[in-house]
This record gives sequence, structure tokens and C-alpha cells, in this order.
Amino acid sequence: MKVTVVGAGAVGASCAEYIAIKNFASEVVIVDIKENFAEGKAMDLMQTSSLLGFDTNIVGSTNDYTKTEGSDVAVITSGIPRKPGMTREELIGINAGIVKTVSENLVKHSPDIIIIVVSNPMDTMTYLAHKVTGLPKNRIIGMGGALDSARFKYRLAEALACPQSDVSGMVIGGHSDTGMIPLTGLATRNSVRISEFLSAEKLEEVAKATMVGGATLTGMLGTSAWYAPGAAVSAMVHAIATDSKKMFPCSAFLDGEYGLSDITIGVPCIIGKNGIEKIVEIELTEAEQAKLKESAAAVSKTNALLDA
Ligand code: LAC
Repeated sequence: MKVTVVGAGAVGASCAEYIAIKNFASEVVIVDIKENFAEGKAMDLMQTSSLLGFDTNIVGSTNDYTKTEGSDVAVITSGIPRKPGMTREELIGINAGIVKTVSENLVKHSPDIIIIVVSNPMDTMTYLAHKVTGLPKNRIIGMGGALDSARFKYRLAEALACPQSDVSGMVIGGHSDTGMIPLTGLATRNSVRISEFLSAEKLEEVAKATMVGGATLTGMLGTSAWYAPGAAVSAMVHAIATDSKKMFPCSAFLDGEYGLSDITIGVPCIIGKNGIEKIVEIELTEAEQAKLKESAAAVSKTNALLDA
């Protein structure tokens, strides 16, 4: 499998590194607009090959998309990250232009590609990539729910003082501080409902900490996070490469599912060699349905800015 990662910043580099370490791709091409930056990251990563024991060939490219020719999957991380105090939505002005150009270039050289969008505001950038490429809806996936769910599991395990491998949980909705919907009622510890272990107040705290997970890290780091975003997107690429049919909440283009249309927003998806192989419609409580509707309205409002 050939994977292109656009953007050699911290998220793109982490993603390329995790893909290489898992040793399932024959080639990873990193593209960046900054002269020699992607080449430098690729060379640095390649010098870890004998130490870490992977055979993936990592190549850098300064905005030359001919090197991405024949990619099976591309990850778009390019654009500016948020600074402390900023919302993801505030990045739309600059990032929309970048994501549009990048998407067009990718499809030009790899018409059958599957694109995973990480750039923020992620749901709207996924919608934009869908519109500009005209790719079938299963081939455009937004990475948000996989990351938000990982952060949910981190917070659940923290509250339970247990290993993360003990907990299961999922976050749907928009990838924004107010739009995420941690499904606390469905979260479990080894199949036992989480409410058996945590009070409603504690669960509310866990949900709130999950929703502002990105903002918390941006405040601490001065820029947005990279390890967990890189790991989340590389796990999605791995599911495509291995045709694993693993379920991730992803930003998917909806066509009536969950009562929503003409929008990309986080819902549970089965990921395999065709990208989004199935959107899983789970039963939501009335409160969760209302939250999803509200979250979708906010994403649509941001989408409308694309035409402005
Ligand atoms: C975050 C960015 C990637 O949540 O949206 O860390």
C-alpha cells in the first residue's frame, strides 16, 4: 500500500511515523509546501528504520504531487493549527483554500484514492474535500471521532483508575468543543455499564473533559496536539490497509442516516479496503438525538461559510 501524508507538521510526521512502525505500507510519501521540510522529515524517519525494524520506504516531496501518483490512501493534515483560545472553526478562512488545492492535486494523480481529512475545522474540511473531488462518499473520511473516542477512553480510565484496555466508549457528533457527543450511556468496563462504577456527576465531568480535550492540550502546548491525532489517523489507515472492518466513529457524508443529509459529521463507521464500508445506525436516546441535531446545525453553519 502507498500512503500520502500531506503536511509535514507534527500531526503529519506522527502519522507517518506510526504508519512506518506498524510496517504495513510499502511507501509513505510526505508532502509539504516548505522547501525541503518533508524531505528532511522523511530522511530523519528513514534513519530510524534499522533501529525500529520497519521496511516502509518514506519519501519527502516539496509540493510535487507527481510523487504521490498511485496512492491508495492520503491523509490531509495541512493548514494552520489552532493557538490557545481559538476554536477550530476560526481556522476555516486559511485552511479551506489549502484543503481545496491539496484535494484536487491528490485526485489528479490518484483518481481512486481514499482521503482522510484531519485539517480543521475537520467536519467542514471533510465536506469540502467531498465537494471538490467528487469522489464517492465512502472514499472521503474525516478523522475526529477516532481521536475524540481515544480521549474519552483516556478520561474514563483516569476516572476509574484502570487501564484503558478495560474501557470501551465512543464519541459521535461534530469534532468541536461543543459539538462532540460522548456516548456515556453506552460506555462499558469489560462489558459492564460504566454507570455501575461512576456517578452521573463523575460521568458528566468525564464527558466535559473529553469534549475540550483538544483545547486543553492546545492551552498546555501552545499549539494543537499531535501524538493522539497521528495515532488515530494511522489506526484508520491501518484498518483500510488490512481491510479489518474495524468500527470507528468518523466524519462521514450522510444521506439520510440519523435523519441528516448533505453533511459530514461523526457517526460510527465500518472501515475497510473501500474506506467507509458501512455507516452503523445505532439507537440514540432522545437527548443524544437532540444533541446530534444541534451539533449538525453547527457544522452546517460552518459549511455555509465555504460559499461566503
Ligand atoms: C485536536 C485537533 C487535531 O483535537 O483537532 O487535537
